[in-house]
Amino acid sequence: MTSSFGNVCAIIGAQWGDEGKGKVVDIVAEHYDVIARACGGANAGHTIVIDSVQHIFHLLPSGCFHEGKPIILGAGMVLHLPTLLEEIEEMKKAGFDVLPRLHISSEAHILFEYHKKLDGVFEEARAKKKGKGIGTTMRGIGPAYQDKAARTGIRMESLDADLTSELKERAESIKEQFGLDIDINVELKNLEDARNVLKGCVTDTVSLIHEYLEGGKSILIEGAQGVLLDLDHGSYPYVTSSSTTISGALQALGLPPKSLESCIGIAKAYCTRVGEGEFPAEASEADGNRIRERGVEYGATTGRPRRCGWLSVPDLLKVVRLNGYTHWNITKLDVLDEEDQIPVMMSDGYQNLPGWKASTRGLTSFDELPENAKKYIQFIEEQTGVPVAFIGTGPGREEMIVKS
Ligand code: GDP
Ligand code: IMO
Ligand code: MG
Repeated sequence: MTSSFGNVCAIIGAQWGDEGKGKVVDIVAEHYDVIARACGGANAGHTIVIDSVQHIFHLLPSGCFHEGKPIILGAGMVLHLPTLLEEIEEMKKAGFDVLPRLHISSEAHILFEYHKKLDGVFEEARAKKKGKGIGTTMRGIGPAYQDKAARTGIRMESLDADLTSELKERAESIKEQFGLDIDINVELKNLEDARNVLKGCVTDTVSLIHEYLEGGKSILIEGAQGVLLDLDHGSYPYVTSSSTTISGALQALGLPPKSLESCIGIAKAYCTRVGEGEFPAEASEADGNRIRERGVEYGATTGRPRRCGWLSVPDLLKVVRLNGYTHWNITKLDVLDEEDQIPVMMSDGYQNLPGWKASTRGLTSFDELPENAKKYIQFIEEQTGVPVAFIGTGPGREEMIVKS
């Protein structure tokens, strides 16, 4: 498979997140030597289903079920350490010790409890002022990146340092500005717990990833969130606070653009969004409810019902431009199995494509697809000029058509 996708391949969500990145990362990771997550934090929820058991990753890359493969958490990440320790522990319970192969960028930022509290305060303030917030995941993401941009953040390189006086100052300033009480003993305890577990993992991941490359190793990049949530190019201000494009991922990992050999765009066969913000192709309530139930469209991080809608060709064209996608993975095709017709948003209104009214669940070969399902896939290829390499036909690891 590396021959089709080259030595450095990225998997980048093409919509508003939750496209099914986790599943394809897990599948493609088998063929790569190193798996690297670039940006974001525990706002991500990446699901993989192996032997009917569901695993949800928030910080660890979804490829970490592949024993022995090094995993990297890049400089663009904001790390809530108790969540990371929990995930490491869960992996241990599942029989996988990830610590010896986990490499965390010393440049990644630590996300503290106070960032989560501030997320709540800022959301409340927006709701008061505008009648609604952004609908964040409340994982402290905006405030952590705010600190990073303001150059007041604390990075993983300081994990070993005594941060008592710095945290005291931070707590005082937060109390003064927002009237919030921060328990720095909780923060210090979290740091100590993390230090004990992660001591050997924090490193210069930029040098490391380049050494892997120079040694002929292949790298799989796992993007988080989706391009329409990008801080610069998304539907601002209803976006996340990181760069979710391929450029953001390369920047976060310290990889030059020329190292990239392929970029797989992940898009649902329809579209969903969690949180507030524009969604021009949002379905009617009845259609949305039907798709939500069939697609089990509830947030992997927050459990919130996802808003459901249809594919938007103008949005796909925009994200193809932003990322230079070389391939698509169209996910969750099976969710549309019972639709009579499938609206697709075009630049001049909707076009209705005929449904196929037959089960595609679990199919693994393109030839087996009903004729109208093939046409739907071909329509996406024609409209976007990007070939479809994978088609999701169910949540399970093996429920995937590899088309080439
Ligand atoms: P991610 O954040 O992009 O990794 O996606 P999420 O894990 O948040 O959401 C995707 C959901 O769809 C998860 O529950 C997956 O198990 C599920 N899923 C992924 N691919 C498919 C598919 O092809 N068909 C169906 N029915 N479910 C899928
Ligand atoms: P994965 O990696 C879907 C959305 C939130 C909210 C906005 C800002 O699983 O695809 P934030 O907490 O980041 O400040 O929230 O971004 N959001 C996501 N939506 N999937 C995600 O990640 C998301 N990460 C953030 O719902 O609208
Ligand atoms: Mg998700």
